[in-house]
Amino acid sequence: MDWDAKKYNTTHDFIFKYGAGLLELLPKEPKRVIDIGSGTGELTKQIAALGHSVTGIERSEAMITQATNKFPELSFIKGDILDPVTGFDSYDIAFSNAVFHWIPDQDRLLQNIHQLLVDGGELICEFGAVGNVQAIRDAFREELAAYEISLEEPFCFTSSEDYQKLLEKNHFDRIEILEYERPTPLKEGAFGLRQWMEQFYPNELAELTLEQKEIVLENMDQKLKPVLWKEDHWEADYRRLRIHAVKRAEKRSK
Ligand code: BEZ
Repeated sequence: MDWDAKKYNTTHDFIFKYGAGLLELLPKEPKRVIDIGSGTGELTKQIAALGHSVTGIERSEAMITQATNKFPELSFIKGDILDPVTGFDSYDIAFSNAVFHWIPDQDRLLQNIHQLLVDGGELICEFGAVGNVQAIRDAFREELAAYEISLEEPFCFTSSEDYQKLLEKNHFDRIEILEYERPTPLKEGAFGLRQWMEQFYPNELAELTLEQKEIVLENMDQKLKPVLWKEDHWEADYRRLRIHAVKRAEKRSK
């Protein structure tokens, strides 16, 4: 998906603002950190400000351009974390916020992270859990069905039990996973839900005529109002997994 990098940093700035809580899991002493899916670089900057040596990796051209323009002093790689790991440095910490649920091949993701980390290196990340924005997704699915369009979502929203198994299988231990509800206020008052939909479902909405799109978004507002409207703003029903795990030291053959 091609992101609207400008809106990511303004209307939807909650994405990296919530990530700030995740920064508290970083060690106090300086480490080599790779920020996976670094977006517009806002969290990368904060990681650097904590004294770490950080590199962001990001595959969206628009995001990486914005990040390098705003933070020329930081190091960013344009690339896909699922590509083969060659020519990379080793890192003490793999950090990531709001990215893993976009990645279809979680095994490959964890294998690559494993390769990027030194023995004893840490994975610190947060992303969508099972049931993430369920009310919004269910309402959208229902609305699209009226036009015989089925909602094919790319997301991997997983449970703590399943992710625990995946991490163990990929040679991580000392695994801590917090699965929690994170109701997220949206900006722009009454237009908040629409704006959120336009940011995250542009391709699906583009399948509709302008008139159909208007009906779908209006119906969603009406349907979701009793659950997600809070006096003067929308609150999206986010659920998150927050993960801290350590790369198991590999046994070397003599
Ligand atoms: C999320 O960050 O949780 C999210 C992003 C896009 C669509 C749905 C959820």
